Amino acid sequence: MSHAARWRAMHPRGAVPAPAPASGPAPSLTLAQALARALAMPTSGTASVVLRRIDSCVYLRSAGALSCLRNCVRSTLVRNASTIAQTQRDRVARGLRWYSSSPLPPGVSQEQPRARIHGNGSSQSQSQSQSAGRRRSSNSAWRLLHVHGRKVWRRFRRPWGALTVLNSNTSFRRILEFVKPQTNLLIAASLCQFVQTMTTMTFPAAAGKIMDMIEPPHPELMDQLAMVAWGLVALFAVGCVAASARVTLMTIVGERISRRLRIDVFAKILGKRMEFFDRRHTGELVNRLSADTTVISRVLTDNLSRTVRSSVTFSMAVAWLLVYSPKLFLISAMVLPPTAGLAVLAGRIVRQLSRQYMDALAASTAHAAEKISGIRTVRLFGTEELEITRYAKKTEDVYQLAKNTGIAEGIYTGALYFVSQMSLVGILYCGSRLVMDGELSVGTLSAFTMYAINLGFSLSNLANAYGQFTKAQGSAMRVVEILDEDPILHSERNSAGVCLVPPYKARLEFDKVSFAYPMAPQNLILQNVSFTVEPGEIVALAGASGSGKSTITYLTARLYDPQQGMIRFGGHDIQTLNSDWLRSQIGVVPQDPLLFDDTIAKNITIRRHAAHLSGTPGTQQEHVDANADAHLRHICDLATCSDFIEKFPQGLDTLVGERGSSLSGGQRQRIAFARSLYHKPRLLLMDELTSQLDAENEAMVSYAIQSLAHEEGVSVLVIAHRLSTLRRADRILFLADGAVAEQGTYDELSQRRGLFRGYVEASQKQRFHPTSAQ
Ligand SMILES: Nc1ncnc2c1ncn2[C@@H]1O[C@H](COP(=O)(O)OP(=O)(O)O)[C@@H](O)[C@H]1O
Ligand SMILES: [Mg+2]
Repeated sequence: MSHAARWRAMHPRGAVPAPAPASGPAPSLTLAQALARALAMPTSGTASVVLRRIDSCVYLRSAGALSCLRNCVRSTLVRNASTIAQTQRDRVARGLRWYSSSPLPPGVSQEQPRARIHGNGSSQSQSQSQSAGRRRSSNSAWRLLHVHGRKVWRRFRRPWGALTVLNSNTSFRRILEFVKPQTNLLIAASLCQFVQTMTTMTFPAAAGKIMDMIEPPHPELMDQLAMVAWGLVALFAVGCVAASARVTLMTIVGERISRRLRIDVFAKILGKRMEFFDRRHTGELVNRLSADTTVISRVLTDNLSRTVRSSVTFSMAVAWLLVYSPKLFLISAMVLPPTAGLAVLAGRIVRQLSRQYMDALAASTAHAAEKISGIRTVRLFGTEELEITRYAKKTEDVYQLAKNTGIAEGIYTGALYFVSQMSLVGILYCGSRLVMDGELSVGTLSAFTMYAINLGFSLSNLANAYGQFTKAQGSAMRVVEILDEDPILHSERNSAGVCLVPPYKARLEFDKVSFAYPMAPQNLILQNVSFTVEPGEIVALAGASGSGKSTITYLTARLYDPQQGMIRFGGHDIQTLNSDWLRSQIGVVPQDPLLFDDTIAKNITIRRHAAHLSGTPGTQQEHVDANADAHLRHICDLATCSDFIEKFPQGLDTLVGERGSSLSGGQRQRIAFARSLYHKPRLLLMDELTSQLDAENEAMVSYAIQSLAHEEGVSVLVIAHRLSTLRRADRILFLADGAVAEQGTYDELSQRRGLFRGYVEASQKQRFHPTSAQ
């Protein structure tokens, strides 16, 4: 007796044990349903798993009941597609019931009168957050003082330990590379500063001399007095020229440094890998580009003049003091150790606080930038008050950090003032005694006091310069992070790579590609995906939302690289191809196409301008230039955007607004389509290009794509949900669970009673009975 016959004898039709054990099920429809449910649960994504498990069931196979059971389960699963929809519908209905019956969650109000934006509710929460911020930051100020005080003390126990602070900052060493090209100008500016300071520093000596001439009076020295006065006039005239030259030169140097820094930082940002942008906010990056670079250049130039001035003043003061009275000099030198100690302590605290300050400022800028650019969403959901409160919280953090920096700087300045004034008191007291003892003249004491004041100023200026320098270190770290981090893409762009010479076969091949986004490495989006798109073929990618369709376009254009497997274009691994060339061969319309704030013409011809600048290989620049205008109009015809462009009074010169906001979604899509065609790509990646088009325009665009493929031999990968678009494709790949679950023509897949058919039936149901989905 065959296994099948024995099995049928043991389990007559209708006698269905439930739940169905794999060892003894009857091949009835009910049993298949039970089995499918027991094995896989009713989700279309796991259908293939169910069937595979049934295949592997030895008993069933040997019983010869397999094909019967497979068919039963298939039909169950196809019906399950509607069961899924039913499940989803149930969920939505549940949500809807909750929506209509339950009270609003705490803190959410449907209608928020404008007056409340600055009203009680927000100010209360604001003040709560402010007091929390105050608590947090006052704690941190004391904690910083404590921690850094101990570190500075440890440093000062070693002789000259303080000097190592200056040498220890790698960020600034990196920034100094940007100063190098300005060395000549800097030297000139420093010389001017030197001259100016020298002129200032001769004044106390001259004043002392004049005092000694008039006390007691020496009428015979009137001529000499006049000479000294004229000499001083000439000296200060020189000082005036030097001061003007110094300010001008330093401003030029500062602006040149920030210009170079900004360009380099911007270029580095644009050259980063995509995961860099996945991790950061735009506003925060813009802040580094503008605010941090300004802080750095300002501090570098201002501090340099300050340091030169203070150093010259300091050395001249020391020389004069030593000449006039070594004894008094020793008294004034007592100011040195406490000044240096204070500078190092304050520097440490300020450096840390200023880094936190710039981070907080960047976070608040990022928040504001995001909300302003997304104003439509903010307005539609009425979240203005929420956003203002959040922004207030972020600016409160900025304020608290700035306040703490101010407190640290204030204490430091006050202490410095006290130390230097104490040294002056000492000089006056001891100097007066020396005058009384006849060791010093009144004029010399006056000159000495003036030099001592200058010495105090120069010392506090040097200490301030150090403070500013450490303050800018926070910014330097943030900028250097961008300059140094992950320069891979840059080298990849510049590397030679292979550029294929036409005619080559623009065949796209995914070979066992597995991929997870770097931000979520544990979440495999694609697993062993393999498929090809032949030249002249239109392949459609279908699948549930989030199944990885757009990811496939990113991988093809090398925005990300797969962790496993290989992607080939023209028979070559795309990682061996020149990336710029590769992208020049691909026309992409992303899912949410972004137009830049420029004219329609400039948006469409964007690659031409880019190629013009960079001389990208393979763009046939001369040809494009010669026929630019005609080419543009033809491309607009092909991309079916001529009709609406002609209706604009400015035609192709119409400005599209920020992100193309003055155009409709469908118009944006068609301009993006024209943009992707402008450089005559050999491979088109169209990500839901027709999602916002009406039926007529969709048919037109599809017709254009078909013409490009079948007549021009362009390979096309379209991602679409619309059945009409899928029907027009030569082949369909259905993605499920990160793999190509089914592939074939529309008719083949529709007949197969698999996942695609379930997908189509669900779409049709949705289309013809839209209310049944609710
Ligand atoms: N930058 C990203 N970082 C991490 N995960 C991402 C990123 N972009 C998309 N994903 C995830 O990858 C999956 C596939 O996304 P996508 O390819 O856009 O799907 P779709 O098929 O709808 O085009 C989704 O689950 C999405 O959450
Ligand atoms: Mg997508």
